[in-house]
Amino acid sequence: MLGFEIIGTGHYVPGRPVSNDELSRVMDTSDDWIFQRSGIRQRHYAPEGVGASDLAAEASRRAIESARIPPSDIDYVVFATMTPDYVFPGSGALLAAKLGLKGIPALDIRQQCAAMLFGLQIVDGLIKSGAARTVLFVGAEAHAGFMPWEDWDALVPETAHEATQAQKQRANKHRALAVLFGDGAGALVFRATDRDAGLRGMKLHTDGNAAKLLYVEGGGFRSRPYWKHSDYDDQTYIPTMDGRELFKFAVTKLPEAARALARQTGTPIEKIDWFLAHQANARINDYVRDQLGVPSAKLPSNIDRFGNTSAGTLPILIDEQMRAGKLKAGDLCMLLALGAGVHWGCALVAW
Ligand code: ACO
Repeated sequence: MLGFEIIGTGHYVPGRPVSNDELSRVMDTSDDWIFQRSGIRQRHYAPEGVGASDLAAEASRRAIESARIPPSDIDYVVFATMTPDYVFPGSGALLAAKLGLKGIPALDIRQQCAAMLFGLQIVDGLIKSGAARTVLFVGAEAHAGFMPWEDWDALVPETAHEATQAQKQRANKHRALAVLFGDGAGALVFRATDRDAGLRGMKLHTDGNAAKLLYVEGGGFRSRPYWKHSDYDDQTYIPTMDGRELFKFAVTKLPEAARALARQTGTPIEKIDWFLAHQANARINDYVRDQLGVPSAKLPSNIDRFGNTSAGTLPILIDEQMRAGKLKAGDLCMLLALGAGVHWGCALVAW
C-alpha cells in the first residue's frame, strides 16, 4: 500500500514581531498577563493588503525549494485557512495562480486550528487512491483583519503612541482573544512513497453543538445583505470566544483522543518519538503532556514567538523541527489539534 512522505517544508511570517508590551499600547494588557496565561511573547501581523494566499505563496516557495522539485511536479493543492482573502472563491485557487500552477485541482478546507489533521487524511486518501502523487498542503492565516483595534500606527516603532482611552475600551472587550492570535503560513510537500512511511492511524471528531465556543457572528449569509453596518458597530466581525470552555474541552478531549489512538494502533505512548501539538496556549499543551506522561523534550513549542497561527501552526512547527534536524525519517510522530467547530483529534504518522 502506498504511503506518503514529506519531502519539503517551508514557513513564512510577515513583518517584524509585535511584543506583548507593544500590544499594551492598543489594549489594557501586559506582558505578564499574556505570558503567564498563554506562553506567548510576540506575534506577527500581515500588513494591510496582504492576504492568506500571499503568506501561503511565500511559505510554499520555500517548501518547494527545499523539496528540490519543479513546481510543475505538484498535482494537487490543499489549502487551509479560516481567514481567506475573499468570502469566495477560496484562497487555494489564488495560491495556485500565484505559484504558476495551472489547471491542477486546489481544494479549500476550513477546520481552523484542526485543519492539519483533516488535511492529512485528505492527502493520504488522494495519494492512496492514485488521484495525486505530489500534494502541496498549506495552512495560512491573516488574523490581523479581526483584531479589535484600528490604530495600527500605534504598533509601528516610528509612529509608536498610546491609543486613546476610548479606543482601548473598544478593544478591551476582545483582549483575551486578540492577544492569542498571530499571522503566518506553513507549507508541506507530500509525495507518494513505497517506503514504510505515512499515516498509521487517526482519531478525528467534530461537535457542532459546541460551534459557538469560537465563531464569527457577523457577516454570514443568514442576513440580507450579509454585511451590515451593525456588524462593524457591534464588533460582530470579531470572533466571540468562550476561552474557559475551550480550554476545558481541549485538556479533556486531546488526551482522550491520544489514548484512544494509541490503543487503536497498538502503540504505547512511550514508543512515540514526537508529539506535535497545535499551539493555542502553552498551558493547554502542558496539561496534555502531563496527562499523557510525555517528557517536555518530546513536545516542542514555538507559541512564544508566533502565538496561535491557527491552520498555519502545525505546518510551521513541522518545518522548524525538520530544518533543525530533529524530526527525521523513521520517527514516529503524534499530531494533536483542536479548533473552532469544534473539530479535534490526533494522527499517528511514521515519518
Ligand atoms: N490582558 C489583561 N487582562 C485580561 C486579558 C488580557 N489580554 N484578557 C482577559 N483579561 C482579564 C479578564 O477581563 C478577566 O478579568 P476579571 O476577572 O476582572 O473579569 C481576567 O483577565 C480573566 O479572564 P478570563 O478570560 O477568564 O481568563 P482565562 O484564565 O480563561 O484565560 C485565555 C483566557 C488565555 C483565553 C484562556 O481561556 C485560553 O487560552 N483558552 C483557550 C482558547 C483557545 O484555545 N482558543 C483557540 C482555539 S483554536 C482555533 O480553532 C482558532
